[in-house]
Amino acid sequence: MNDADFDVKALPKAELHLHLEGTLEPETIFQFAERNRIPLPYADVDDLAGRYRFDDLQSFLDLYYANMATLRTVEDFADMTEAYLVRASVAGVRHAEVFLDPQAHTGRGIPLETVLEGVTSALSASERRHGISTGLIVTILRDLSSESAMTTLDAVLACGADVVGIGLDSAEVGHPPSKFVEVFAKARANGLRAVAHAGEEGPPSYIWEALDLLRAERIDHGVRCLEDDALVHRLAAEQIPLTVCPLSNVRLQVVRDLSQHPLPAMLSRDLLVTVNSDDPAYFGGYVDDNYAAVRASLSLSPETLCKLASNSIRASFLDNTRKSALLTEIATITASLSTKVEGFRAG
Ligand code: ADE
Ligand code: ZN
Repeated sequence: MNDADFDVKALPKAELHLHLEGTLEPETIFQFAERNRIPLPYADVDDLAGRYRFDDLQSFLDLYYANMATLRTVEDFADMTEAYLVRASVAGVRHAEVFLDPQAHTGRGIPLETVLEGVTSALSASERRHGISTGLIVTILRDLSSESAMTTLDAVLACGADVVGIGLDSAEVGHPPSKFVEVFAKARANGLRAVAHAGEEGPPSYIWEALDLLRAERIDHGVRCLEDDALVHRLAAEQIPLTVCPLSNVRLQVVRDLSQHPLPAMLSRDLLVTVNSDDPAYFGGYVDDNYAAVRASLSLSPETLCKLASNSIRASFLDNTRKSALLTEIATITASLSTKVEGFRAG
């Protein structure tokens, strides 16, 4: 096979860093606004799409939260989740651990039960409909208080929804992980897995805090770890996964250009890096688009793309049986690459 024929969509992969609310496409925002009779401050879909230019994380978050006003009913949350799963299956996603921001909805008067019923109804049908196993991670808005976070966690635990983990997101700088030690301790005591956004815009010290104080098992983004050698050694030694989102990093001006992205440097330091889409409707692409973009801009080989896919499976919260099955599928693809190269050389 020619390298150019290698299809990233055919590669089985897990998506581990995906905000469901970040999958709301401009057309969907207009559709939900119309059916819920919510006036929008945009002339039309093109006007809205034209606003998807961001200076930094906060400028994105302002639009991201504003557009959530169109999500009102169980059906809205179910349709948003189902639309993501349909698109993810085209991307070759076989397992998805997705983020949901409950406080962004309860804070504007939508009952938690409405939000969770809609999202979990689509997620629970995903394996049957799309062959994608799923896990739901509720993310705490770090720019709100720790009291609000605790109230949210308590409500999530009380309603008995099928939730695999707790995460930490929203405006990073000025809101260190240390603010949420008790919340994460309670979540872990109740069997939730812990992940946290850290080192996207915030300093490496936030990654240390996420590991040591929140006991995060994965770091979301984490690209700024490269500024701290001791931290890189720790992350590599413990094989703590980093869920990197290349197109997001460019759109939010965390990196200047995709060709300057630290992904190759991270791989060369033996970090367990995965590639994900973050908020695909806002940042120019789903997970397959992210794989294709880093492949083109950073000249990644098919073998490296296979490595990123197998990292995503290893980094997931899947059980060992399903992990092994998916890793075997990827290993078969990887082996076919080397066979073809050898065959070519021999011939
Ligand atoms: N919420 C949605 N996308 C986010 C990101 N990239 N960083 C922090 N919070 C977010
Ligand atoms: Zn994110």
